[in-house]
Amino acid sequence: MNINWYPGHMKKTKEAIKKSLSLVDIVYEIVDSRIPISSQNPDIDGIIGDKPRIKILNKSDLADEKSNIEWIEYFKKVGIPAVLVDSINNKGLDDLINLSYILTEGKRKRLELKGIKNKPIRAMIVGIPNVGKSTLINSLSKRKGAKVGNRPGVTKSNQWIKVKGNIELLDTPGILWPKFEDKNVALNLAFTGAIKDELLDIENLTIKLVEKLNTISEDYIQKRYKVSIEDKSPYEIIVEIGKKRGCIISGGEVDFSKACNIILDEFRKGVMGRITLELPH
Ligand code: G4P
Repeated sequence: MNINWYPGHMKKTKEAIKKSLSLVDIVYEIVDSRIPISSQNPDIDGIIGDKPRIKILNKSDLADEKSNIEWIEYFKKVGIPAVLVDSINNKGLDDLINLSYILTEGKRKRLELKGIKNKPIRAMIVGIPNVGKSTLINSLSKRKGAKVGNRPGVTKSNQWIKVKGNIELLDTPGILWPKFEDKNVALNLAFTGAIKDELLDIENLTIKLVEKLNTISEDYIQKRYKVSIEDKSPYEIIVEIGKKRGCIISGGEVDFSKACNIILDEFRKGVMGRITLELPH
């Protein structure tokens, strides 16, 4: 990841987020729809406490539609309100706003009894790197108006962005860490591009990705690359794909590394189709 997490840093981050939490009515916790568990912070419940929270399943455009619905049902069952969002195409934003209203109704009613009407709902975004925090802030703010609180004397961390539906968003998201120590979590993060490629062994990673995709569905690789996966190891499948794509080095050998880069890149961009890597069950 682009941030080195160590215990002192985690403690500081937690404290900073807890401070910001006191300023908001609701928290938007963003995860990646393709890996909703791997892309969440392991301590999120403790950090947010009993503040109203919405789990935003972002990048829903890249995840399998049926699995998206399964995840929403799952979170509903465990009592966590969740919405599907595609921050690139501004999808799901109205659902997010409507749900924000539902979850803050009690507080708004109490304020109304005190004569305070139409007070904006204040929200902040939290999530691990690469889940789409900045993209969501941009897509929400594009919908309406400029920043508020953007004047001298207001610290940068306390600027509020006015968004549709009388909601104000804290302009600085809380950046959290994932559960690195779990091997599957680390792999899922690497597959989806959340860990910088320079830190990874791309060839091994692609072998693991091909293996994983084939266990989820036999179709993904076969359909995209028109290769048979039957009785072939992931390595052999990648070589096959390399040949088909003309990844050949001098001497006629397959450029394995190039083939791996193509596969990883196409998976991450959704070219292979909409694929969810982990399911509630
Ligand atoms: P962050 O602030 O949480 O770190 O994430 P950021 O908004 O920077 O988004 C990370 C990458 O994910 C970006 O890709 C962004 O365009 C993409 N992204 C964010 N939301 C969505 C979404 O709803 N759907 C899709 N398909 N993509 C989304 P990038 O610019 O290519 O960055 P990178 O992959 O080169 O790091």
